[in-house]
Amino acid sequence: MPTMLDRRDLIVGAAGLIASAPLAPALAAAVPDAAGSGAAALKDVATGRRFRFGTALSYGALTRDPAYAALVARQCDLLVAENEMKWQWLRPTPTTFAFDRFDAILRWGEAHGMAVRGHNLLWHQPKWFPAWLNAYDFGSAPHREAERLLTTHIDTVTRRYGTRIKSYDVVNEAVNPKDGTLYETSLSKALGGAEPTLDLAFRTARAAAPHAQLVYNDYMSWEPGNDAHRARVLRLLEGFRRRGTPVDALGVQSHLITQGLPTASHVAALEGPWRQFLDAVTHMGYALVVTELDVRDNNLPADIAVRDRGVADFTRAYLDVTLAYPQLTDVLCWGLADRHSWIEGFEPRRDRAPRRPTLYDTALQPKPMRAAVAAALAAAPIRTG
Ligand code: XIL
Repeated sequence: MPTMLDRRDLIVGAAGLIASAPLAPALAAAVPDAAGSGAAALKDVATGRRFRFGTALSYGALTRDPAYAALVARQCDLLVAENEMKWQWLRPTPTTFAFDRFDAILRWGEAHGMAVRGHNLLWHQPKWFPAWLNAYDFGSAPHREAERLLTTHIDTVTRRYGTRIKSYDVVNEAVNPKDGTLYETSLSKALGGAEPTLDLAFRTARAAAPHAQLVYNDYMSWEPGNDAHRARVLRLLEGFRRRGTPVDALGVQSHLITQGLPTASHVAALEGPWRQFLDAVTHMGYALVVTELDVRDNNLPADIAVRDRGVADFTRAYLDVTLAYPQLTDVLCWGLADRHSWIEGFEPRRDRAPRRPTLYDTALQPKPMRAAVAAALAAAPIRTG
């Protein structure tokens, strides 16, 4: 297999920055001109390689920003609700479900010919539980009550949507990267530990939605500092296999973080461990899904042109490595335009320059990252499965 650097044909520009050499003519023909209004839609570029392309969308963005919704409809054939299926949003009380907002997103996605993913059935951290669930009184038979709560939730959601949803992030972010433990929650304490809780979630989802792809979704990434997180996720995935827990795929969130202007040697250093990780995951028989792509533009100068170039090059390098795995067919961004990205609220830049984490700017104009994603999709080996 050619290395990412062979394929990208990186050159060092006069300013000392890395720039992409012009693509070979055959490839260039397949890559749309992202800046032009006639650019091929990303979903069409993806379809050309038998991938699918999508984004997260919130109810607020869908209902209050029609121009953005139109952009999503034009570019995507895959959709995921940014928050509206999470317990915090879906479960106002122990006995009620608030489906309206998720339903609206699902109906809209279907009306625009998109497949809609479910995210998520159990975000396994107290921080993301509704307050009532953290404070829940499990009574005199806590195990049975926790089992009832969790299975009722997963049954109710998956049976409501039936075959309309064909892929679920069943469990989200169960690993604490700080100490390599699995988080404990009110549910897992009542159920006798995190592993049995995650197993129960997947088994319940399999029984209630046998048609669906079941995904464990997490944010271990390729940047330095993720080694322990990756190792712990591998152990978790091994455990699922050993116990026969029905998990089909690893969701690779792909919240990338630039480390400065990406140089060839820097990117090459990230590539090895990342391949090792994806090799180990796929050798266990798991499929891969890029579930939440965006970029924190850390350690890049505020200058927009330089910053956008750095983000685009970093994204392209990452996708070239990751999309080479034939087990991966779906790529989703966590928001398509900077005006609907969670990153600014989550972690603003130190210099307070507004973040530029996505493919389109605040005026919905395509950025270099958009061209990088299109080019990476166009260059990916065609899926045959
Ligand atoms: C984020 C949303 O984008 C925010 O609006 C919300 O406040 C918190 O959750 N990993 C995930 C996503 O799996 O669900 C998170 O989404 C981003 C990190």
